[in-house]
Amino acid sequence: MVNTSVLFVCLGNICRSPTAHAVFQSMVNRAGLTNQFYVDGAGTGDWHLGHPPDTRSAATASLRGYDMSTLRSRLVTVDDFSRFDYIIAMDTDNLENLNVMRPSNFGGQLKLLLDFSSKPEYKEISEVPDPYYGGEDGFPLVLDLIEDACASLLNHIRTQIDDRNE
Ligand code: 4NP
Repeated sequence: MVNTSVLFVCLGNICRSPTAHAVFQSMVNRAGLTNQFYVDGAGTGDWHLGHPPDTRSAATASLRGYDMSTLRSRLVTVDDFSRFDYIIAMDTDNLENLNVMRPSNFGGQLKLLLDFSSKPEYKEISEVPDPYYGGEDGFPLVLDLIEDACASLLNHIRTQIDDRNE
């Protein structure tokens, strides 16, 4: 039974949030929790609606075994605040936009992904950098940051579920 839903949000929903979506879904699957989680991604900007992920993001993710081929860009909506328990923003602009949309009765958690970074070398980095207009080398760093933080986010959520069930 699905009991936890997680939405990753960036600007275009073609680079960072679909990467986080694919990485987190893969971690959920490997933990044997596929049936308990619903994972999705969305963007705050509408330039790429219905488009597949950026080919540079998809290629970088594919090298580490993540499949983004079925994902398509969509806009985040106010309804998402009633559908998702965790809404996870890639940068502070996304977070500010989400905070403006956030209904006062939202009972879930709205956080920056890199609040969950675990590696000491990432502690100073608060945002997943937007790789869209940068060079090719931005994409592996985005994936490194996302893999590290998603592993900790999954642990965090599992701990919260365990605490609730005690
Ligand atoms: P994302 O990257 O927010 O990680 O999906 C971007 C993709 C497209 C644009 C900006 C950022 N754009 O301006 O089209």
